[in-house]
Amino acid sequence: MKLPEYFELDGGDRMPRIGFGTWQASDEELESAVADALAAGYRHFDSARAYENEAALGRALNKWIGGDKAKRRELFVVTKLPPGGNRPDLVQEYFDKSYSDLGLEYIDLYLMHTPFAFEHVPGDLHPKNPDGSMRVDLTTDLIAVWKALQKLKESGRVRHVGVSNVNAQQLQRLTAAGRPACLQIEMHALCQQEEMIAAAAALNIPVVAYSPLGSKALADALAAKTGREYPDLLTLPAVRAAAAAHGRTPAQALLRYALQRGVAVIPKSTNPQRILQNISLWDFNLSESEMASLRALDRGAAGRICDFSFFPGVEKHPEFPFNK
Ligand code: A2P
Repeated sequence: MKLPEYFELDGGDRMPRIGFGTWQASDEELESAVADALAAGYRHFDSARAYENEAALGRALNKWIGGDKAKRRELFVVTKLPPGGNRPDLVQEYFDKSYSDLGLEYIDLYLMHTPFAFEHVPGDLHPKNPDGSMRVDLTTDLIAVWKALQKLKESGRVRHVGVSNVNAQQLQRLTAAGRPACLQIEMHALCQQEEMIAAAAALNIPVVAYSPLGSKALADALAAKTGREYPDLLTLPAVRAAAAAHGRTPAQALLRYALQRGVAVIPKSTNPQRILQNISLWDFNLSESEMASLRALDRGAAGRICDFSFFPGVEKHPEFPFNK
């Protein structure tokens, strides 16, 4: 089965369906990993103000671009408005900071990172109360923030805007005020997001899966804190069997599974061999029975890793997406 390697966006822009994730990489690791990723053929790079690595990503990309506008056009660069910027009067200021840190002529896609908001505290993206809970801004007007993001396009410094970490009801509300160019959500074998895929498809919004390999570093950190167990996706028998049947690695089976479901993936790695592995996905095909055995791993919302429990108190926000 030949799969499309790009999503076609409005205006003829193309988003490669395999992107490079940058969450939880230090500046040094990231600069060398981005050089490896570019050499391996990645052209889509995902970052966020909240990852605090936009400047390092920008340096690595600009080194490769070398002032050549045609090379810049080959890239698709994504960053995100942090929860502290979720107020219409702050969107421009937060965007400007990401824009100058990345140091690129334009950003391809700017996402609202989360529907919930923190208080705006200069110099502190994750402000906390003395008791350790987050300083949550409960007054968020999600639609007003979304309209402010859309307005950013007028400057030409950002080509597309979209949303992340919203639920289906929020996606519908947001779309009524302007269709997002993209929805980015956690998605992997244990959290397959059937409802969100259907909601996005009905609204004609392409979906990007983050943590497509199960974000082991985050899962381990949460497990140490909460005692909850997170299975290692790469060792699940169904994943290993599908991989072995094609002479591929478990990570490749998981990523190919996501591509065959019609979404894009942004795996993160800082290891050159794994970086190459994760983009070598176009030349094999999982069978229907392999797809079915991977589909059966779904645990729905219970399989979610990035549930924001690392932001205590955030579930009180009226736009917290995962309340039942
Ligand atoms: P490393 O950076 O050492 O390769 P996710 O993209 O779901 O957030 O997962 C990222 C995690 O998966 C990182 O810990 C990364 O470690 C690991 N990883 C990335 N690619 C592979 C691969 N092909 N095989 C095994 N582990 C991988």
